[in-house]
Amino acid sequence: MNNPTIQAILSRRSVRKYLTKPIPEEMIQIIVKSGIYAPSAKNKQNWHFTVITEPQMIEKVNELTLLGMEKLGIEKEEGYHVFYHAPLVIVLSSVIEGYSGLNAGCAIENMAIAAKSLGIDSCIIGQTRYMYHQANHIDINRMLKIPEGYEHDCSICFGYIDGEEPEVKPRKQDLVDYIR
Ligand SMILES: Cc1cc2nc3c(=O)[nH]c(=O)nc-3n(C[C@H](O)[C@H](O)[C@H](O)COP(=O)(O)O)c2cc1C
Repeated sequence: MNNPTIQAILSRRSVRKYLTKPIPEEMIQIIVKSGIYAPSAKNKQNWHFTVITEPQMIEKVNELTLLGMEKLGIEKEEGYHVFYHAPLVIVLSSVIEGYSGLNAGCAIENMAIAAKSLGIDSCIIGQTRYMYHQANHIDINRMLKIPEGYEHDCSICFGYIDGEEPEVKPRKQDLVDYIR
């Protein structure tokens, strides 16, 4: 089907190799707006977005996450970068209540699809939760400008792909039943 929205959804892949090329500010704003325009239960909009393009801060979050993973005994190969050196990272946080996790999921996927439609790839990063296993909770939240009462949910990194799009990962069969 030649529909650009369906194309963006079906062609999105988690990309783990990026060019250093920065994402133009206008595109960043469209991506963030797409997240903000996601639906949320009871229209709570109980999320917060920390948009990071400052390379030092991306490195800092990477380092803290790797240290947290090390502390938990999660092994990663030498040189592993949590954000795969992507030039844009958005850290999502929520007021933990009701459907906040689901709301955050809607926001994050909206951003991934919006980015894809603009020719920008992404990878959702759950691993950033590990940084809290290594450093002080309050210090991290302050560093990431996460408001009081909000908890970090997950992150997403964006960038222009370096190399070929990864092959589609096969989807499990028999997970859909129809009643008709
Ligand atoms: C909640 C969530 C957390 C994820 N965390 C990570 C992560 O920390 N690192 C990573 O490389 N990929 C992560 N992924 C990406 C998944 O591995 C990926 O979506 C899955 O393998 C399917 O591949 P696809 O996105 O290319 O279709 C995460 C995806 C989701 C939805």
